[in-house]
Amino acid sequence: MKDKFYITTPIYYTNAKPHIGHAYTTVACDVLARWNRLQNKETFFLTGTDEHGAKIEKKAKESNIEPQEFVDELVLVFQDLWKKLNISNDAFIRTTSDSHKKAVQKVLQTLYDNGSIYKGSYKGLYCVGCEQFKSENELVDGKCPDHDSVPEEMEEECYLMQMNKWQDTLIEKIKSDEFKIQPERYKKEMLSFLESQKLEDISISRKNLKWGISLPFDSEHTTYVWIDAFLNYLTGLGWDGDNKNIPELWPAEIQMLGKDILRVHATIWTALLLNLGIELPQSFFVHGHILSGGKKMSKTLGNVIGIDEMLEKFGAEATRYLLMSGGKFGDDLDLTMERMTEKYNNDLANGLGNLVSRVVKLGEGFTQYNSSDITTPEFYKVNMEDNELSSALGTIWGALINDCNKYINDTEPWKLKKNDSNKFNEVIIKLLGDLNLISDLILPFMPETSEKIKKALETKERVILFERIK
Ligand code: MSP
Repeated sequence: MKDKFYITTPIYYTNAKPHIGHAYTTVACDVLARWNRLQNKETFFLTGTDEHGAKIEKKAKESNIEPQEFVDELVLVFQDLWKKLNISNDAFIRTTSDSHKKAVQKVLQTLYDNGSIYKGSYKGLYCVGCEQFKSENELVDGKCPDHDSVPEEMEEECYLMQMNKWQDTLIEKIKSDEFKIQPERYKKEMLSFLESQKLEDISISRKNLKWGISLPFDSEHTTYVWIDAFLNYLTGLGWDGDNKNIPELWPAEIQMLGKDILRVHATIWTALLLNLGIELPQSFFVHGHILSGGKKMSKTLGNVIGIDEMLEKFGAEATRYLLMSGGKFGDDLDLTMERMTEKYNNDLANGLGNLVSRVVKLGEGFTQYNSSDITTPEFYKVNMEDNELSSALGTIWGALINDCNKYINDTEPWKLKKNDSNKFNEVIIKLLGDLNLISDLILPFMPETSEKIKKALETKERVILFERIK
């Protein structure tokens, strides 16, 4: 069998429209999925929506709509955005789908039957924004730092899931990289968390929340939204919840997630799998947050960059490029419309666009290409294998596109054409070869642009890829 590559995004809450952070994660996964398909791996790329829980129930109530109707509308906005951004996901999982709900119930029954779930009660501070209980030391001035709100005190009868017995196993698997957390600093962060405090058993049900999947063994309770959500990574592959039918594509090679949801994944998701006797994913790949002008984006600060605004100004291909080239993966990214406009003009309109129009024009009548400089693909390949997507783009621009433009300026082929036809042929054949290579390398990032370049190389018809903008 071919090597396989299963990659997942987190599933997005349908409490509001998608934003640039969601687009960032999804485009990054799309690039990796496209790259792995090119490597001839059996690739499966899953994304979807997380549609239950208190946060969504509350939002629907505020809008005076039934929760199902509320999420049905928002899901369309997510799906529409992925279409506009040319996302090549193989499936889209919704946690309100019947098949998912049935599978979740089957899993909960298994956990109940094998003793991983037991009845008790839980008291704590619940942040609805995070849909998580928070410990005192996670709060800043009594507030959840991610949502700037005071969590609610909650005490209720619930079912709990065993966590503590997996603590050592988890530490060992993370340390040995059997379960990888990348980049390295997030591995360290999780290890120091797991080594410094005891994992508590967690509440996996809610008694006073209707908008959720009811427990098969106690219909007064609904399933905790994170348990419901995590299982998407398996139900999205068509899993029916039966341990005997684990999909062949599991475990995932990469689960991409933002740093804010690393801890909940590295503890609850992993413990859930261990309680079920299912293999852990191969790796988590953790990204930072998008900031704007050095600050967290917020409506009050007026520095929110809308994904629609980006699409309108730059178009889908350039939006993908600007998101992926914005900074090193894992770090926070600081984006502003001004800087992105500058980058668009430099890298895309002047850099790539200009190169393509010059080479295509000069290459009229040529059918022969040279194979290009062989070191660039090697660097690029290492970058892609390490998921260093912005470095991969840096390699293409730094080593190829900028060099080719310089080569044209230095050799002045329009002069050679008149007085040194041998040299002219040599220069153009090299440039055509380089451009062909560039179109291959940018394919995972800008699939349509890659195709347009290929076509222009074939037909030598003039093409304007990116017009300069203000
Ligand atoms: N529904 C949960 C995930 C369940 S997965 C089993 C959730 N959803 S979310 O919609 O709030 O966030 C989804 C992803 O978007 C997270 O990985 C989060 O880190 C990411 N982002 C949210 N805001 C972001 C930025 N400003 N920048 C980059 N990514 C950010 O959490």
